[in-house]
Amino acid sequence: MTLNDIALHRRSIRKYNGTSVSREELETLVRFAQEAPSWKNQQTSRYHIVTSPALLAQARTCLGGSNPQKTEGVGALIVTSFKHNIVGHTHGEPDNEGGNGWGWYDLGLQNAYLLLKAAEMDLDTLVIGIRSAEQLRSLLAIPEDETIGAVIAVGHRVEDAQRPPRKELSEIVQFI
Ligand SMILES: Cc1cc2nc3c(=O)[nH]c(=O)nc-3n(C[C@H](O)[C@H](O)[C@H](O)COP(=O)(O)O)c2cc1C
Repeated sequence: MTLNDIALHRRSIRKYNGTSVSREELETLVRFAQEAPSWKNQQTSRYHIVTSPALLAQARTCLGGSNPQKTEGVGALIVTSFKHNIVGHTHGEPDNEGGNGWGWYDLGLQNAYLLLKAAEMDLDTLVIGIRSAEQLRSLLAIPEDETIGAVIAVGHRVEDAQRPPRKELSEIVQFI
C-alpha cells in the first residue's frame, strides 16, 4: 500500500468484531509513532495500553457519550498522554503563547503516525476525545504530571465505514 492508500484506508471505526490485538502489534504501533518529530526531541508522549478483557470493560465505562457502545469488541484501548509543561518550556516557563499546547501538538503528531501504521497493518482505530481523564487516571494509575489526551481504540472492523467529506482546499488554504 502506498501512503495515499493507507490514508484512505484509515477510517474511524465504531463497530468491532471482538478479536484480540497482540502485544507485539501494539509495540509495533508505538515504535512507529516514536519516529514522529517532537519539540527538541523531548519525546514526552506516553501510552497506557489496556488489553485484558476485565480492565477493558472497566476502561470503557470511563468513555463518554456513546463511546462505550462504539468500543464494544475492541482489542485494546490506548490512553495517550504527555508529561506536561516540558515541551515549549525553559526552566518551567513557557517559551511562547503555545505553552503546554506544544505537548498536545507532539502527542497529536505521534498519534497520527500510530493511526497510519495501524491502517497499514489492517488494524482499525477510533480516536476518542469524549472521555473522563480523571476516571482513567484513577483506574490506570496515570501519574499526575501527565496530561491525558485522546484514547485510541484498536481492533478489527465489522464493516467498512464511509469517508466523511473533506472541505474544499479553498476553504483551508491561503496561497500568498
Ligand atoms: C481529537 C479527536 C477526538 C475524537 N473524538 C471522538 C469521539 O469521542 N467519538 C467518536 O465517535 N469519534 C471521535 N473522533 C473521530 C472523528 O469524528 C473522525 O475522525 C471524523 O469524523 C473523520 O472521520 P474519519 O476518521 O473516518 O476520517 C475524534 C477524532 C479526533 C481527531
